[in-house]
Amino acid sequence: MLDDARILVTGGCGFIGSNFILHLLERYPDCRVVNLDKLTYASNHANLRDVEGDPRYRFVQGDICDGELVDGLMAEVDVVFNFAAETHVDRSLMEAGSFILTDVLGTHVLLDSARRHPNVKRFVQVSTDEVYGEMSPGARAKESDPLHPRSPYAASKAGGDAQCNAFFETYGLPVIITRAANNIGPRQHIEKMVPLFVTSAMRDEPLPLYGDGRQVRDWLYVEDHCRALELIAREGEPGEVYNIGADNQEENIRLAKALLQLLEKPLSLIRFVEDRKGHDRRYAVDSSKLRALGWAPQHDFLSALERTVQWYQENRWWWEPIYAGPFRDYYQRQYGDRLASGVPYDPEGGTPQ
Ligand code: DAU
Repeated sequence: MLDDARILVTGGCGFIGSNFILHLLERYPDCRVVNLDKLTYASNHANLRDVEGDPRYRFVQGDICDGELVDGLMAEVDVVFNFAAETHVDRSLMEAGSFILTDVLGTHVLLDSARRHPNVKRFVQVSTDEVYGEMSPGARAKESDPLHPRSPYAASKAGGDAQCNAFFETYGLPVIITRAANNIGPRQHIEKMVPLFVTSAMRDEPLPLYGDGRQVRDWLYVEDHCRALELIAREGEPGEVYNIGADNQEENIRLAKALLQLLEKPLSLIRFVEDRKGHDRRYAVDSSKLRALGWAPQHDFLSALERTVQWYQENRWWWEPIYAGPFRDYYQRQYGDRLASGVPYDPEGGTPQ
């Protein structure tokens, strides 16, 4: 399926997409990859600078909502991986229109083009565990669970998933949906919690921890995610959904403490700040369906975190310019008031209610 395939990757200049393209080109010497990316604030052309001269790789700047452009590319490929998405929950609370456009309409444009191109043998929709909504303690979402998205971001991804189901049922398009847990690793935009906290600590700036910091996320190293996607494209069943999680569930506050320890920075950098609206308390997925295909994660929580921290330590050139650009305004809007009224961590005092 992938060995000598012509592959369209959308959103390939983003965090997971760029890691996936590097993974593909390394693992499959005879594959060819076209990367369609709009180059939004969250993507970075430098993410793929190592393969720019590789004759197997081609970059096309453009929008997945552009039907004509998409049709032209779709005619040339066997497999599609759709990573292109607006992905940050906090930004979706400020403005959700761009999420609907890219995550719902953009997915629809890709699907509609793929169904008119019988050369497309697999369409992998890279989705998220957030579509299941928050999990009660001990529960883990199964693929057959009903969707209960609670943020505008999660609702837009659920809309994309629904489009995928419709195209499988109606046209028999060989679509597979994947729903992954929280990824960490190299080249993740610093708006997300782990890179924000790592780089803030390196700058001796406070770490804005939402609410009581006891929310739980299931941490997945991006390379483990890439291996899962590769396997699912090869061995997964069209029309099916596969959860991807490494069972690395951890509270945000424990994660913040662990990364400060790795960086040898004081816990006093932690600030408890006003919570995210509608903040999902806990995510966790049951990945037994994927594990039955032969996948197992190679990174536990600490090893994933250590590698991630090390990458940001070694690649200041990559993230320092982001702090000097438009991110500054976003940071001020998102954190200015919150940090001003934040409560510093007190080892004796526990967490605020
Ligand atoms: O679960 C998969 C999802 O994981 C992906 O679909 C999303 O695209 C990705 O952004 C991520 O969503 P989260 O909302 O879980 O990630 P984020 O890094 O924004 O937040 C992780 C946790 O940290 C969450 O409980 C909110 C908290 N947080 C986040 C930020 C940015 C803070 O306490 N402070 C912060 O400044």
